[in-house]
Amino acid sequence: AIERTLSIIKPDATKRNLTGKINAKFEDAGLRIVAQKRIHLTPAQAGVFYEVHKERPFYGELCEFMASEPVVVQVLEGEGAIAKNREVMGATNPADAAPGTIRAEFAESVGENSVHGSDAPETAAVEIAYFFSGLELVG
Ligand code: CMP
Repeated sequence: AIERTLSIIKPDATKRNLTGKINAKFEDAGLRIVAQKRIHLTPAQAGVFYEVHKERPFYGELCEFMASEPVVVQVLEGEGAIAKNREVMGATNPADAAPGTIRAEFAESVGENSVHGSDAPETAAVEIAYFFSGLELVG
């Protein structure tokens, strides 16, 4: 099925001017960028986004990192977009990421891992709605 997923190009990647190279990976994989904007989150806004992780020991660090520099939030659309995006990103920890994936090529550590992608249709819907209105999604 055609799906939409929420993608974030994280501060470690925007800081190193990797937005274009990362977008090329998505587009080469057949994912269409149907919405995109560069924003600078506050720690509180990052905290709401990552609420599901609030009991984890790295939650505070994660929120501070996500607010440390601008991010690019985007909606990717395509056949099986959620799984396809996760494939292109590679494993959360770049040390485990397959060659050629975004995290293998660009990520610096498990915390500063260059990209986020939704993990399921339900979370994708919630995450897209957190950043975008329906009018901003241009298929
Ligand atoms: P993401 O897919 O954005 O979802 C939650 C994030 O928490 C994850 O990517 C990692 O960047 C981060 N994360 C996961 N494990 C750790 C860890 N052990 N230390 C710091 N950050 C982590």
